Amino acid sequence: MKVYLETMGCQMNRLDSELVISALRAEGHELVADRKSADVVLYNTCSVRRHAEQKVHSRLGAERQRKQHHRPKLIVGVLGCMAQREGEALRKKYPHLDIVCGPGQIHALTDMIDQAAAGRPTVALDPSRDATPDIDSETKMDRMDLSRDPAAVGETAQAYVRAMRGCDKFCSYCIVPFVRGAERSRRPEEIVEEVHRLVDGGRTEITLLGQRVNNYRYCEGQRKVRFSDLLCMVSGVPALRRLRFVTSHPLSFTDDVLEAMRDLPNICEYIHCPAQSGSDAVLRRMNRGYTRAEYDEFVDRARAIVPNVVLGGDFIAGFPGETESDHEGSADLIRRSKYKNSFIFKYSPRGGTVAARKLKDDVPVAVKKHRNNELLAVQEQVSLEHQRSYVGARVEVLVEGPSPRANKQPSPPSDRSVQLTGRTRGDHIVVFDGPVTLRGQYVNVHVTDANALTLFADLLQGR
Ligand code: SAH
Ligand code: SF4
Ligand code: F3S
Repeated sequence: MKVYLETMGCQMNRLDSELVISALRAEGHELVADRKSADVVLYNTCSVRRHAEQKVHSRLGAERQRKQHHRPKLIVGVLGCMAQREGEALRKKYPHLDIVCGPGQIHALTDMIDQAAAGRPTVALDPSRDATPDIDSETKMDRMDLSRDPAAVGETAQAYVRAMRGCDKFCSYCIVPFVRGAERSRRPEEIVEEVHRLVDGGRTEITLLGQRVNNYRYCEGQRKVRFSDLLCMVSGVPALRRLRFVTSHPLSFTDDVLEAMRDLPNICEYIHCPAQSGSDAVLRRMNRGYTRAEYDEFVDRARAIVPNVVLGGDFIAGFPGETESDHEGSADLIRRSKYKNSFIFKYSPRGGTVAARKLKDDVPVAVKKHRNNELLAVQEQVSLEHQRSYVGARVEVLVEGPSPRANKQPSPPSDRSVQLTGRTRGDHIVVFDGPVTLRGQYVNVHVTDANALTLFADLLQGR
């Protein structure tokens, strides 16, 4: 069958979608880029903010119309975090839905498609956090990670690899622990084996994933493997050019992790370590577990230990009870931390979380919006300064392919120069002219100009 898959949300979902694509291809299904020509339409969804869910509702509304009026046999499925959160309720709302599949059930997706084709809709959800774990599904998911085909998603040198599942941190605003279940670190040998296979298949930049990945800890009898041990093991995979990891929690950033970043040459010097707020009172209500002073201390330590480290952050604007001075604290933290970039979002209450139950969403929408824009403006200024400091420098870039601009033009012969895009070790986006044949390769470029988002560069001859 022809399958269209749209992915929303974070890297976890992108990884899951890749596993789904690999499994679908192995069953003989074909992936298509056009929703209209598909027999099966799948949405891998995110629940982190209301806006993310609204997008899915509008898509499902449109699919209902299409199914009713033009394509009665169309199979429609919702996967991922929103499927888990809404479960049966989603099928009540959209009776035309054939598949509702929680993130820990995607190992069964190909069977669910067969069932749907035979006229039997299925809802498969992960057990709630307090129920007995579904060991059978966990084993199948582990196998799914390990057995993925490195070539499933076509030409790319980049790959995500799961280090941890779930999250036990329960930040008061966050839905993730409810939809992704309990925190679990994967067996290090399996992670290393998966990385080996991916690198053998040409995926030379690996990003280890976890909601607080630097809290990784694998215990078996007397044996304890910390995150820095895992980094060391993975970093030793031959021909692995770049090793990254997201997302980090400041409390788990012990010196051994920073020293591993300093000492192991293929670990990239980029740390995405969300602060969420610069105010102690807000951090406490968010249950983040650190104070502003502790976060500042982490930033100073990272800069002292890892030469040229590049930092990225996340902030929530207008959290319950946030005062003007709390908000100023966040702006000040952006300036002090000198992030390359930050993801900044307005607070969005999520049903079932402690913040939604116990804290009044009392910052007016207009104020939230205003503070959100202010933080974005501060970050833009900080980003610009950061990016400009690279003008004149020589940096290594992993070439991703033609830039969005080049993609809009008719495709030239493969040896002709087009605008290419790629990333530095510090996660900067770089554009420069070069042949499409450089896709997936590492080249050196000379940075000539910069804006807040992009470095502009010339390809260096001799590379
Ligand atoms: N595990 C990561 C983040 C996962 S969610 C971490 O701990 O940093 C990604 C980002 O979405 C968060 O960093 C936060 O900034 C934002 N976010 C999560 N819940 C939110 C909510 N209810 N409202 C607004 N933003 C939220
Ligand atoms: Fe959510 Fe906090 Fe877990 Fe990140 S660490 S996923 S913000 S609960
Ligand atoms: Fe969204 Fe689920 Fe990721 S809620 S942010 S896709 S873990």
